[in-house]
Amino acid sequence: MEAYAIWNNKGGTGKSTITFHVASRFAEKNPGSKVLVIDLCPQANSSMLLLGGGAEGEMKLLELCSSANPRSVVGYISDALLNRVTPDLTKYIVQISTHNDQMPDNLYLMAGDGNLELMAPAIIDEAARTPLPGLDDPWKAVHKIFTNLMSSLESGPDSWTVFLDTNPSFSIYTELAICGASRLLVPMNADDSSRVAVKALFALLHGTNPPHPFFGNYTFAAKAKLRGLNVPKVHLAIGNRFTQYKGAAAAYKAFSDATADQLYNEFQLNPDRFTGDLHEDAGKQEFLASYVAELRDFNTAGVVAAHHGTPLSRMKQDYYSVHDDPDVKVNAAQIREGLKAIDKIVAKIDP
Ligand SMILES: Nc1ncnc2c1ncn2[C@@H]1O[C@H](COP(=O)(O)OP(=O)(O)OP(=O)(O)O)[C@@H](O)[C@H]1O
Ligand SMILES: [Mg+2]
Repeated sequence: MEAYAIWNNKGGTGKSTITFHVASRFAEKNPGSKVLVIDLCPQANSSMLLLGGGAEGEMKLLELCSSANPRSVVGYISDALLNRVTPDLTKYIVQISTHNDQMPDNLYLMAGDGNLELMAPAIIDEAARTPLPGLDDPWKAVHKIFTNLMSSLESGPDSWTVFLDTNPSFSIYTELAICGASRLLVPMNADDSSRVAVKALFALLHGTNPPHPFFGNYTFAAKAKLRGLNVPKVHLAIGNRFTQYKGAAAAYKAFSDATADQLYNEFQLNPDRFTGDLHEDAGKQEFLASYVAELRDFNTAGVVAAHHGTPLSRMKQDYYSVHDDPDVKVNAAQIREGLKAIDKIVAKIDP
């Protein structure tokens, strides 16, 4: 079973949008398996999109999060921390189609929750607690909350694929998402700051060589390594919205040459930080063809899809209402092109 974290340490690169489109399309294409989105971002953007988008998605999310035992990531993490168990998943997820009939029946959501931000200090304190002699290491126990969930899904009767949406800051809840994931989908933009983001991504996951003399032992990477925790491998870098800047270029032009070089350089040094079995001597073009995908700008179709919580596969050429405008035109070519791009990414995700 694979769990994909959609993560980039850089904000606004399209993590939540990609979670929404890729998870819903993957579920449509794999009706025999169950698909779970875990939204570990307190902004809860992908949850709102999945729950119907716009004001409706926001209202439904509020309903899930505001009960005494929230049906959200906050409910799940609280149960795991308080009772030191792998919680009963059914208490914390929803079948999305019961809230948004545009979604396939095999798609489930553990909703994001604004209270995750308020809860973070409590999680940090619990992880930092000095262990009592002979008892479990709290740092490890806390960081394994979602790893344990994946193990329980893996040993259950159903076949699951999990997508975890993340927050750009490397906060405690991002660490939990990273520890729960086996693979990374990394959305990037076509700008040069993406090169810096690639460097940061590997430093956060694996540390630097040599470790920093002052804070090197305090990092997530050092603590995870000390405890033998697995960190996820890069499965795909997604050049998002690149047509906005570059026109219909080849896939490996999805981001700047400097970003591509940075990724390829990392691969040559540490091929084990990537999924698959591409030989470390692989040339740059071969590498990019394996690990880079493009996602075009969705234009108006994307705005409408987000506003109505509707996957592109369910949209038709028509006039849609968005906010106060009842006549937003979405044309068939836009829908078709967008869906084609999503399908190329979905094809790279193993069921
Ligand atoms: N392929 C795309 N085409 C058109 N618009 C897009 C595309 N991808 C993302 N956007 C838009 O860009 C903005 C940022 O996207 P999104 O919220 O998905 O980013 P994010 O990485 O989740 O942000 P954050 O770091 O704040 O969580 C949104 O307004 C979204 O609608
Ligand atoms: Mg987001």
